[in-house]
Amino acid sequence: MSKARRPLIAGNWKMNNGGQDGIDLARAIAAECRGGNAVEVVVAPPASVLHRVSETIEKAAPGRVGIAAQNLSPEPNGAFTGELSASMLLDAGCQWVIIGHSERRQLFGETDESVRAKTAAALKAGLLPIVCIGETLAERDAGRTLEVVYRQLDAFSSVINSKPGAAAIAYEPVWAIGNGKVATTEQAQEVHAAIRQRLTAVSPELSQKTRILYGGSVKADNAPGLLSQPDIAGALVGGASLKIDTFMGIVSAARQTA
Ligand code: PGA
Repeated sequence: MSKARRPLIAGNWKMNNGGQDGIDLARAIAAECRGGNAVEVVVAPPASVLHRVSETIEKAAPGRVGIAAQNLSPEPNGAFTGELSASMLLDAGCQWVIIGHSERRQLFGETDESVRAKTAAALKAGLLPIVCIGETLAERDAGRTLEVVYRQLDAFSSVINSKPGAAAIAYEPVWAIGNGKVATTEQAQEVHAAIRQRLTAVSPELSQKTRILYGGSVKADNAPGLLSQPDIAGALVGGASLKIDTFMGIVSAARQTA
């Protein structure tokens, strides 16, 4: 982790902790984050509890824990059943939004084009995007990792260059998500460095300021190795973000490398 970029640890709860369990977890995380802000901590609860989680955190530790939505509509309003716009998410207390998670790409038909449009809508409204990219196992095995990652990145890199440093990028190899199969620190650092290099062509400022997070089976025990890499500025955490001890174990690891 480079000292120039403040580490960011984001917990993606996915479709879990959508009731009182989410409120309790948010309160516990807020209590642990009251003291310092060397590490930026963000939680992404399901839409059902965004507002209550935001109120809970604001009461317990104002400004210490960011709130992210897991998706947004690129449209401002209208006949889009089931969707939420950027302004609605801001209203619910979000500052952040996860965009283009591999589950949304694989299960809900999201494309590079929709990721670009959502990223533009988020930034325009003042939401900070965490944009996810990453290759499947078949793509890695075929030697196509960088080709895929560059294609996904190129779709939105000029959009995030409108506010360098506002958006974070999460590199999440799809084969390492949710199954305990973490990329080695070398595999992760290699792709992170390539992403940063690719951003330099868009603008050196963008490359310098953008935090590139790693995601895929991050746990307290593998976090120190990953987070000590020069181009890994944090983590997007799924499974281990659902319980206070496992999540704070990762935040503590980040605090030690910050
Ligand atoms: P995981 O999920 O930590 O459970 O692998 C990561 C993610 O999907 O963002």
